[in-house]
Amino acid sequence: MSHASSLVRALRSIALYVPDLVKAEQFYTEVWHLQVVSRVDNAIYLAGAGQDHHLLSLHQRDGETGIRHVTLRACDLKALDEVARRAVSAGGRVVSDLAPCEEPGGGTAVVVADRDGRRFQLVCGDERVDGRPSDPDQPIRLAHVVLNCQDVEDTQSFLEMALDFSLSDRTRIMAFMRCNSDHHSIALGDTDNNALNHIAFLMPDLDAVMRGGGRMRDAGYEIAWGPGRHGPGNNAFNYFIGPFGEVIEYTAEVEQIDDSYHVGGPSDWTWPPGRIDQWGISAIPAATLKQAQRSVFFSTHP
Ligand SMILES: [Fe+2]
Repeated sequence: MSHASSLVRALRSIALYVPDLVKAEQFYTEVWHLQVVSRVDNAIYLAGAGQDHHLLSLHQRDGETGIRHVTLRACDLKALDEVARRAVSAGGRVVSDLAPCEEPGGGTAVVVADRDGRRFQLVCGDERVDGRPSDPDQPIRLAHVVLNCQDVEDTQSFLEMALDFSLSDRTRIMAFMRCNSDHHSIALGDTDNNALNHIAFLMPDLDAVMRGGGRMRDAGYEIAWGPGRHGPGNNAFNYFIGPFGEVIEYTAEVEQIDDSYHVGGPSDWTWPPGRIDQWGISAIPAATLKQAQRSVFFSTHP
């Protein structure tokens, strides 16, 4: 049994407000290697090589970089109603009632928010695309989104109750949550703020993660953390600070698990002195990365 959530099939996309859509498009296509699949007034929708209609949408808003919402694909239409009901019981609220999604990609959607205003859009029946040309240097799909939390236990319980996510591992500083066979689709950072920690894009393989590091350096973006291989999730990583301070990751080889997975705790995940990744080569993250990981928030006026 590999699908842990009865309500959510997968993480699909993230929607961000950015202050300069032209610069954003240039970066996310030419350097990050996504492709524009839809363009509407003041927004672009970007796809990777996988089947999702888009995995990132960027919305122009002067003076703001922020999260509009995180989109999850629901298992079926019934799940949308169920999530709306459960979100309220879990202390959150319904932001937008169930309705046809007016945005590119379509489908039917409901938007819920937790107590702290983290907005999750649940979509069902959205467009899927078969047979996009494969590009060895293009992200396939989102791998995970990591959200900082002032109260991790509270947010974890919202994800469990409203979205039927399960805990895969809890380290001293993170709760890794899954909805399918990926070790985690959402992780929660145990911190003193509710900012975006980072967005991870799944690359075809380790080489693509490394070549991505080179491509970013060529474009003036140094690797802010990595290369390395994480403990929980066993994925290889390179982290960067994007053009608007948003932290983005190229990752590959995320561990696939099922419900027999042993849920680890903080004592299962300690590093030997001086180490912070499995290979033992990654230095501690740049101070600028830590700073960036407290700079982008869910927009307060979506
Ligand atoms: Fe990550």
